[in-house]
Amino acid sequence: MTLPTKEEARELFDYICQKTDYFNCRNGLPEGTSRRHYLRVAENAERIASKTPSLNPEKAYILGLLHDYGEFKEQKDRRNFHGTAGYDEMMSLGFDEVARTCLSHSFFDGCITPENYPSYPADCILRAAEIISDNPFDDYDRLIQLSDLMVKTDQVTAIDERLDFVAAKYHVPADVISFKKERAHELKKYFDNLCGEDVYHILGLKND
Ligand SMILES: [Fe+2]
Repeated sequence: MTLPTKEEARELFDYICQKTDYFNCRNGLPEGTSRRHYLRVAENAERIASKTPSLNPEKAYILGLLHDYGEFKEQKDRRNFHGTAGYDEMMSLGFDEVARTCLSHSFFDGCITPENYPSYPADCILRAAEIISDNPFDDYDRLIQLSDLMVKTDQVTAIDERLDFVAAKYHVPADVISFKKERAHELKKYFDNLCGEDVYHILGLKND
């Protein structure tokens, strides 16, 4: 398994930020929106990993920084899915550990079907399901899933707020979103136990 160094990851990060800035500006989004999203996910992952004896905070940061590496490909052509696009880019660079995070981070609910992800091309979701069935999630996959679930665009936020935002944006039916919330909270609980502390406390989302 191969991972870029922190310096290599920074270069790759700068490269994708330039690309996503171009498309974000075209779509009327403020400059740096994606950059801030990637940074927030990386910081969440690093903080949680630093409280988890079995996870390396630097590796967590690198995976968080590059988890949406395929985003610009999806922005460029909606027939692409950022997960498989990022997976292919990272595999071609030889960074297979980042590749799996690019692919796995969207599927925190474990239900990898075109019906459950109707806003993405069905062929890409079927391909993702096939790759993941040969490479079951590990704790780094789960960590980036959770870290991404607690960033709404470019702000650190609680899971329900993030998922309510997604539901409104993509018109997700109420029963589907309540299933996703349930799975997301199970994932959080898994890390609360690993950390021996509420993840919301670790990220400053809860003070009591
Ligand atoms: Fe993301």
